[in-house]
Amino acid sequence: MTTTSGKWNVKDIPDQTGRTAVVTGANSGLGIATVEALAGAGTHVVLAVRDLERGEAAAATVRGSVEVRRLDLADLASVREFAAGWHGDLDLLVNNAGVMNIPQATTKDGFEMQFGTNHLGHFALTNLLLPRITDRVVTVSSGAHRMPGSPRIHFEDLNLTGDYGPIKAYSQSKLANLLFTLELQRRLTEAGSPVRALAAHPGWAATGLQGHDANVVRRGLMRVGNRFIAQDNRAGALPTLYAAVEDLPGASYIGPDGRGEMRGAPAMVSRSAAASDPVTARRLWTVSEEMTGVAFPKLPAVAGA
Ligand SMILES: NC(=O)c1ccc[n+]([C@@H]2O[C@H](COP(=O)([O-])OP(=O)(O)OC[C@H]3O[C@@H](n4cnc5c(N)ncnc54)[C@H](OP(=O)(O)O)[C@@H]3O)[C@@H](O)[C@H]2O)c1
Repeated sequence: MTTTSGKWNVKDIPDQTGRTAVVTGANSGLGIATVEALAGAGTHVVLAVRDLERGEAAAATVRGSVEVRRLDLADLASVREFAAGWHGDLDLLVNNAGVMNIPQATTKDGFEMQFGTNHLGHFALTNLLLPRITDRVVTVSSGAHRMPGSPRIHFEDLNLTGDYGPIKAYSQSKLANLLFTLELQRRLTEAGSPVRALAAHPGWAATGLQGHDANVVRRGLMRVGNRFIAQDNRAGALPTLYAAVEDLPGASYIGPDGRGEMRGAPAMVSRSAAASDPVTARRLWTVSEEMTGVAFPKLPAVAGA
């Protein structure tokens, strides 16, 4: 964990030659910044995107070894197809893609769009790829997991059909990202696997994420915030990158070290009590298996274990 300028930055990423990574939502925002940094350090990076044309355009801007494959997290058939097409080892999976505060919508499989994309799509993808993963899974959560109003997992109506709210749905999905990481790490440890599950959040980064808000006033405010408060996508990707390459304990959560965790250099940060509850994490896992039809896999035996 040496630093070149006092604060950890992209130059501190050790040589990643020989490693392979998948980054979801890789064609824009934090995703493309994550790809640039990993590929720049020698990783072969697969950009997992829902629009191949935009994926290829983004890949063309990156120096290093990259390829583009189709993945629509809002369609379990697409998730299964992506995983079935994977052959060989995968060192790193970055569950980065996401939608935020959007108007009410459903995925192909009928799940509420934010929970379905941000959590269930990544849940299915991770479990389907897990027998191939050799090093770690990094899932991008958000400070929104602890927004005012105490976000929780609405087990009685996970798709929020009875009472949809754009922020309620986003914070539920980002809380789910952290609970997923907690239970995934518990299961990996129980299975004797060396694979680690970690989570990260970028603080506030100016990306396309804020442009789809269901509320026009909030959208305008976020545009102003993007201009005057947010950090850029490269700074926002640093917590993800730190979680992806540094030697950290499983279930670590990395975010910016500045005030309110809005910006700054990557550091270990705390999560809400709701995001630390192992009972809720297990319950969410069981329900997610039922909803997706994808279960925690049998993992390959570890030599010497
Ligand atoms: N920016 C922030 O301040 C901030 C703060 C906290 C957390 N985050 C988290 O950071 C992550 C990345 O967001 P960002 O800020 O980089 O926003 P972004 O620029 O909008 O990127 C989101 C990416 O997710 C992709 N995506 C959306 N739905 C998808 C689907 N069904 N299947 C596959 N890919 C899909 C988008 O693809 P298209 O281009 O095709 O739409 C896009 O590439 C998200 O998980 C978000 O919750 C961001």
